[in-house]
Amino acid sequence: MAKSSGLLPIFLPLLVCALITLSLTSTEALKPKVARLQFYMHDVVQGPNLTAVRVAPSPDNQALTNSTGSDPFASFFGSVFVMDNPLTAVPDRGSTLVGRAQGIYVHASQQNEFSLLMTLTYMFVSGPYNGSSFSVVGRNPVMGEDRELPIVGGTGMFRLARGYCLLETHSMDGMNAVVGYNATVIHY
Ligand SMILES: *[C@@H]1O[C@H](CO)[C@@H](O)[C@H](O)[C@H]1NC(C)=O
Ligand SMILES: *[C@@H]1O[C@H](CO)[C@@H](O)[C@H](O)[C@H]1NC(C)=O
Ligand SMILES: *[C@@H]1O[C@H](CO)[C@@H](O)[C@H](O)[C@H]1NC(C)=O
Ligand SMILES: *[C@@H]1O[C@H](CO)[C@@H](O)[C@H](O)[C@H]1NC(C)=O
Repeated sequence: MAKSSGLLPIFLPLLVCALITLSLTSTEALKPKVARLQFYMHDVVQGPNLTAVRVAPSPDNQALTNSTGSDPFASFFGSVFVMDNPLTAVPDRGSTLVGRAQGIYVHASQQNEFSLLMTLTYMFVSGPYNGSSFSVVGRNPVMGEDRELPIVGGTGMFRLARGYCLLETHSMDGMNAVVGYNATVIHY
C-alpha cells in the first residue's frame, strides 16, 4: 500500500502524457470533413430502358378494386420496386454518368399521399469520390416540397458517413422523373 502510493506521483504525469497523446492521435485521425455534392437522378418507370421496376405488386386491397375510393395512392400501398438509377451532374439524361443509385423502395403510406420508404446506395464513378458510396434510409413523400433523406453510412472516402440529402423534382415526363439532389456528407 505504502509502496504503490509512493510510486503514484512518479507514474501519474507519465500516464497523463500518454492519455493526452492517445486522445490527440485519435481526434486527429477522426477529424470530420464535409463534402457537398449536387447531382441529378433519373427515375425511368415507363417506356423503354426502365431504371426502376416493380417486383411485387400491392396486395389486392380495397383501394385497388374500388375505383370510387377517394385515395388512388392507397392502391400502391405495399408495392416494391428495385431501382438502378443513373446520376448525372446536369439534368440532361444523356449527360456524363457520375454515379448510380441502387436499391429498393416501397410504397409505404396508405394515407392521402405518395410516400416511399427508400433504402438505397449512391455509388460514384467519377471525380474525387470515384469508387466511394453512401447509403440512405428514409421516408420520401415524393409529391412534397421539402424532401430530406438521411445518410446513414458509406464506403471508401465516405466510410463512417453521416449526413442528409435535400431533394426536389426537377422535371416530370409522365411518371418518369428527374430529381435534383444536394447532399451534405460528413465523413473522415
Ligand atoms: C434505350 O437504350 C438503347 C440501347 O442502349 C438506346 O439505343 C436507346 O436510344 C435508348 N432509348 C431511350 C429512349 O433512351
Ligand atoms: C368504396 O370507397 C368509398 C370511399 O372510400 C366507400 O365509401 C365505399 O363504401 C367503398 N365501396 C366498397 C364496395 O368497398
Ligand atoms: C474510376 O475508378 C475506376 C477504378 O479505379 C477507374 O477504372 C476509372 O477510370 C475511374 N473513372 C474516372 C472517371 O476517374
Ligand atoms: C441545390 O443547391 C443549388 C445551389 O445552391 C440550388 O440552386 C438548388 O435549388 C438546390 N437543390 C436542392 C434540391 O436543394
